[in-house]
Amino acid sequence: MVKVVLSYSGGLDTTVCIPLLREKYGFDEIISVTVDVGQPQEDLKIAEERGKKLSDKHYTINAKKEFVYDYLFPLIKANGDYEGYLLGHAIARPLIARKVIEVALKENAEAVAHGCTGKGNDQLRFENIFREYDLRIIAPMRDLNLTREWEIEYAMEHGIDVPATKEKPWSIDENLWSRSIEGGDLENPLTIPPEDIYEWTVNPAESSEHPEFITIGFDKGIPVTLNDESMDGVSLIKTLNEIGGKHGVGRTDIIEDRVLGLKARENYEHPAATILIKAHRDLEQLVLSRKELKFKSLVEQEWAELVYEGLVNEPLFADLNAFIDETQQRVTGTVTVRLYKGNASVVARDSPFKLYSQELVSFDSVSIDQKDAEGFIKFHGLQGRLMKRIFSKKS
Ligand code: ARG
Repeated sequence: MVKVVLSYSGGLDTTVCIPLLREKYGFDEIISVTVDVGQPQEDLKIAEERGKKLSDKHYTINAKKEFVYDYLFPLIKANGDYEGYLLGHAIARPLIARKVIEVALKENAEAVAHGCTGKGNDQLRFENIFREYDLRIIAPMRDLNLTREWEIEYAMEHGIDVPATKEKPWSIDENLWSRSIEGGDLENPLTIPPEDIYEWTVNPAESSEHPEFITIGFDKGIPVTLNDESMDGVSLIKTLNEIGGKHGVGRTDIIEDRVLGLKARENYEHPAATILIKAHRDLEQLVLSRKELKFKSLVEQEWAELVYEGLVNEPLFADLNAFIDETQQRVTGTVTVRLYKGNASVVARDSPFKLYSQELVSFDSVSIDQKDAEGFIKFHGLQGRLMKRIFSKKS
């Protein structure tokens, strides 16, 4: 028995992979694995039904908690942001790949397969993890250069009820952190996204006329309370997606640089991610020193790039996380955010570790002798002034 384990989403590409793995690649046993990282219940159900029907064995693995605590919380600490993309799918891929590998090892499979095309980032993210192991890697979509029309026809020939394709012209990927919509007419960067691509967020123009204020409590960089109520990570993110979505918060339309160098037009909905990263950044601004903030922003850029490129097993990634964790020891406190008409704005913050002193900075206080600043100023900019003098003498 030659076995293959397929990372299975239930969508058209991975569904077509099942008969292909049998017919074109000659595997005798196909095991489909769907990893639950917070995609809609309905999609999971469809994946499970299709997986059970078409493959020889199906696994659905609930990895929501792991996703939040081991992947999204480090992302929040790192203010994970790549060119405005909050990395929702990029960060999920290594986890999905690891779950697929677990099944492959348990089932003694010879190969693992994924349904990524040869144009995107996901192939790099999956395979970088897969290649840690001695398994054959099969990527039928990339390998066979398939078009969507061919896939639909092939699926129909095999009696597979294909996921709605004509009505849903976009490629959608959804998990707890983010919903992405790409392809179809959105590929033309001139196309203004039609309102019906959005599912998590209401049109800001039609959202409530009343602002809503929410308070998020952080403990060492991790969100732990919402409006003073303790919440587990999964519920907190789900709740923030709902509240933020109601106010039209978290829509992003960007041109994104893929790893291969292709520029892609991407649309995202990520209300909870938008709110949490804004709030977290603001709290850091209150408690970290200026030098820490400056250096951390460089670390964050490197961190986001590694995640985007799927290089989470690069040793530097662990080094960066160690630095970030050290900075987070003081990122404890509360942040109040106002949600209104598509915007999330921080309006209040507090922390026992704040480096902010009202007493020192206030216009009304006398605890700083302002004259002390004069001595500092005499040296401030000294070299520039010296140089100017030299040049004015020369001319
Ligand atoms: N552009 C993002 C990335 O590369 C998201 C891709 C999501 N895929 C999709 N088919 N909608 O990580």
